[in-house]
Amino acid sequence: MSTAKKEYKRITVKSLVDMKKHGEKISMLTAYDYSMAKIVDAAKVDVILVGDSASNVMAGHETTLPITLDQMIYHASSVIRAVHRALVVVDLPFGSYQSDPKEALRSAIRIMKESGAHAVKLEGGAEIKESVKRILAAGIPVMGHLGLTPQSIYKFGTYTVRAKEEEEAAQLMEDAKLLEKLGCFGLVLEKIPAELTKTVSESLTIPTIGIGGGKYADGQVLVVHDLLGMTHEFNPRFLRRYMNLYEEMGKAISNYVDDVKRLDFPNDDEQY
Ligand code: KIV
Repeated sequence: MSTAKKEYKRITVKSLVDMKKHGEKISMLTAYDYSMAKIVDAAKVDVILVGDSASNVMAGHETTLPITLDQMIYHASSVIRAVHRALVVVDLPFGSYQSDPKEALRSAIRIMKESGAHAVKLEGGAEIKESVKRILAAGIPVMGHLGLTPQSIYKFGTYTVRAKEEEEAAQLMEDAKLLEKLGCFGLVLEKIPAELTKTVSESLTIPTIGIGGGKYADGQVLVVHDLLGMTHEFNPRFLRRYMNLYEEMGKAISNYVDDVKRLDFPNDDEQY
């Protein structure tokens, strides 16, 4: 398999399918605000996900359920203003698409119109089929999300690995094929066995993006605050931390506090 990278000036949903075809892995990261999105985009991450994990990471909620459509639009429009290259995908939050397909379409349209995002992501399979169809029919690209779907956490009861049993794995496979057939351009696979990711990825022409789905996914996604080590209580096996920003930022901030207290900041050169 080739690891050579084609230069993309602007990533589109077509580029992602193209990357899969050419064996180039897709990189995806979350961002929820302008400053972080600028850094992530400049580092050439292919897809920026304005995830409903903003509910946990930015607002401190225990689950993704409380975040609202208005709050997602606020985060997404901040990200969009920073991005020049990446494809920006926005999560439809809990309660904005489950009750009926017309409401799902209205929510997706609000995201696209009010934030300028490029695509939306929804959690679920057959049960959201009509909503996916309606959103796609309006010309809005849709990404699926199967496996551990955090908006259903109270149904699952825990954040453990999904689809370890044959029946659930078969259902996931069926849902993945359905989402591809409907016209989704990609699929997030969260916290499922690596071998299942392999089977699903090999059965689809659209790319799979794993988070805790192992090395056979066509791409990987992480929450940027986890990758940078800004969060430190969350330690799942799948997470690779590239920095310990929690410690680094803490040190810098306590140095600032010390400097203020001992009258070292501001000094003569730092005033007018
Ligand atoms: O909201 C999010 O960050 C996500 C990723 C975990 C894929 O959906």
